[in-house]
Amino acid sequence: RDVRPHVYFVQFCIVFTVIGPFGVFKISNFKMDAVWVAVVVIVLFIVSVSYVIHSWEKVDIRQTGSWAVVTGATDGIGKSFCHELAELGMNVVLVSRNVDKLQTCAKEIEETFGVATKIIQADFTSLDKEMYARIRRELDDLDVGVLVNNVGINLIHPDYFHVLDERHDETFQNLINCNITSAVNMTRFVLSGMVERRRGLIINVSSVFAQIPAPFNGLYSASKSFLAKFSNDLALEYKTFGIHVHLLRTGFVVTKLSDVEGIFGFVPDPKTYVKSALKQTAFSRDSDGYFGHWLTRMVFMALWAVVPFIMDPVMKALMSSARQKRIVKCEKCLREKSIPIAATPWKWSKNSINRVTNKET
Ligand SMILES: NC(=O)c1ccc[n+]([C@@H]2O[C@H](COP(=O)([O-])OP(=O)(O)OC[C@H]3O[C@@H](n4cnc5c(N)ncnc54)[C@H](OP(=O)(O)O)[C@@H]3O)[C@@H](O)[C@H]2O)c1
Repeated sequence: RDVRPHVYFVQFCIVFTVIGPFGVFKISNFKMDAVWVAVVVIVLFIVSVSYVIHSWEKVDIRQTGSWAVVTGATDGIGKSFCHELAELGMNVVLVSRNVDKLQTCAKEIEETFGVATKIIQADFTSLDKEMYARIRRELDDLDVGVLVNNVGINLIHPDYFHVLDERHDETFQNLINCNITSAVNMTRFVLSGMVERRRGLIINVSSVFAQIPAPFNGLYSASKSFLAKFSNDLALEYKTFGIHVHLLRTGFVVTKLSDVEGIFGFVPDPKTYVKSALKQTAFSRDSDGYFGHWLTRMVFMALWAVVPFIMDPVMKALMSSARQKRIVKCEKCLREKSIPIAATPWKWSKNSINRVTNKET
């Protein structure tokens, strides 16, 4: 959801809590001051409760159908979704781009959980009509109960948008195809069946960056914002059909994509994250999926509401430092030839090396 209404609301409450005792009542009238603060707290409480009631939805995942479809299923969060859903007894369709990894993951799931699996090879950076038609055909006869729109890519490191533009044109389109178009198409393919059966659950893996400012990461964040809006509107549209659409505002999880280290309680491994997320998925329309992610987002949002003029530069500095580190790392692995040049999303120019060593302006 858009961050602004929350920000304005918190600012409104703060301003009225502060000026109430000074303006509306006399400053010496402590009794009235206390009443004023109590009124504000009660209003905040009512708003919070009504928000929870509004987004409360109870879904028994096992009752949605016999198959779960997961995109980006061979690594990280997607792989954990496959395991957790298989543990619930669901058969799993794994959709990803690497056939060997798909076969290995499918075999592991069948052997560990004793459920059936199906693999679909697809590279979602492509808009190939035949590829999407093939996916649709594969899913047509299945009783799909759960769809997890998980697949997502980011640029190799955060950077100024115009600099990225100089380097590689396709990267932008690939990101949009993979993060947005795949989710739209996969949702189309399963919805008709779900409507007919009047049951189903669609989980859209968005990001905390869809809600908090993320300089140098605008395209990725915007793709996740698309997913958030799409998800929330579908949730309302299909509620009466017995179909639940859940938005996950995922924070940092230890995966290849995030390239971050775990921090107990705040940056979980994919298994811990998905276990927790699935519990929340069963109860509401949107969630962070993990308490530490919720807490972090709340702290950020509260700070933005109170001191946005401090938070803007702080966030830019944080992201800028992440950008520098990632650029150095990418440069190093290219030099060591651990990543074949052809596999990188753009070619490295002398400029990029200079930009790493130069202090940011
Ligand atoms: N990790 C985080 O901190 C974090 C935070 C917020 C949101 N998210 C979101 O969570 C989702 C999963 O992220 P992750 O961290 O688990 O990523 P990951 O570890 O990099 O795994 C990505 C998965 O997607 C597959 N994939 C990548 N590109 C593909 C393509 N073009 N076509 C088909 N499949 C493709 C990969 O298959 P291959 O093995 O073949 O590459 C892999 O199975 C993403 O949507 C991401 O935006 C992650």
